[in-house]
Amino acid sequence: MYNPDRCKTGIGELDSLLNGGIPRGNSVLISGSCGTGKTTLSLEFLIHGVENGEKGLYISATEISSKVMKNMVPFQFFREEYFDSGKIKIMDIPNIYSKLNLKKLEFEQEDIDRLVNYIGEIVKNDGIKRIAVDSLTSICYRLRTEEKIRDFIIKFEEIVSKMGGTALMISELLPNAKGYSQYGVEEAVADGIILLGNLKRRGDLLRTLQIIKMRGTSHSRAEYVMDITPLGIMLSPLLKGWTVNQ
Ligand SMILES: Nc1ncnc2c1ncn2[C@@H]1O[C@H](COP(=O)(O)OP(=O)(O)OP(=O)(O)O)[C@@H](O)[C@H]1O
Ligand SMILES: [Mg+2]
Repeated sequence: MYNPDRCKTGIGELDSLLNGGIPRGNSVLISGSCGTGKTTLSLEFLIHGVENGEKGLYISATEISSKVMKNMVPFQFFREEYFDSGKIKIMDIPNIYSKLNLKKLEFEQEDIDRLVNYIGEIVKNDGIKRIAVDSLTSICYRLRTEEKIRDFIIKFEEIVSKMGGTALMISELLPNAKGYSQYGVEEAVADGIILLGNLKRRGDLLRTLQIIKMRGTSHSRAEYVMDITPLGIMLSPLLKGWTVNQ
């Protein structure tokens, strides 16, 4: 059933752990080390959005978008036509920087404003309701200071909440990282945090998912096993007695 207040991720079990989905207007950090499934989760979220009549925007900063798309082809949830028809707009961050003439290694305040305004215009003009920034961490490299990172994220979140949309902001972690983001600011200003991790068990490496925070709803805080299957991401309860090793 359609709930105007909740954005269903479309990912098995995650919506029920969130009591119906991500509260609309939220910008959520998807934190995890390499290969934990951040990109797959983001694209499944965007594709499911189109199936609910919501247009998407995927901002790719760590991989060339054509390569990202190619990697998604084997998944049954993947719909190339959504990208071809523009229902999901896909943009590479180097192209955005070059279009806006953002050449400095460290952005100034006016560069941040130009970048945010550019994203805001696209979102407004195209009626976009779901955004994935993959990754926020790589944009933060150009912001460098905590003040600028905070400023960028808060302005980005304002765009998302004003349009009644929902955003996933990918946060890249080093293995065994203590927090949920590289600079620490990201996790403080994000409306929610979903942590993807790895768990060693008898020589195997299981994927895990845990909702750390989600403003505007009660939610499960338990750790779940996350499988990347040909159908997409699947969650199942984690049995006790396993040791975590991010
Ligand atoms: N078709 C597939 N079916 C099942 N699992 C897959 C498939 N394709 C990739 N994977 C698994 O998913 C992993 C990559 O997932 P994904 O790219 O979403 O992770 P990521 O967290 O975004 O990684 P990175 O940190 O490199 O950006 C691969 O390492 C592989 O284990
Ligand atoms: Mg990725």
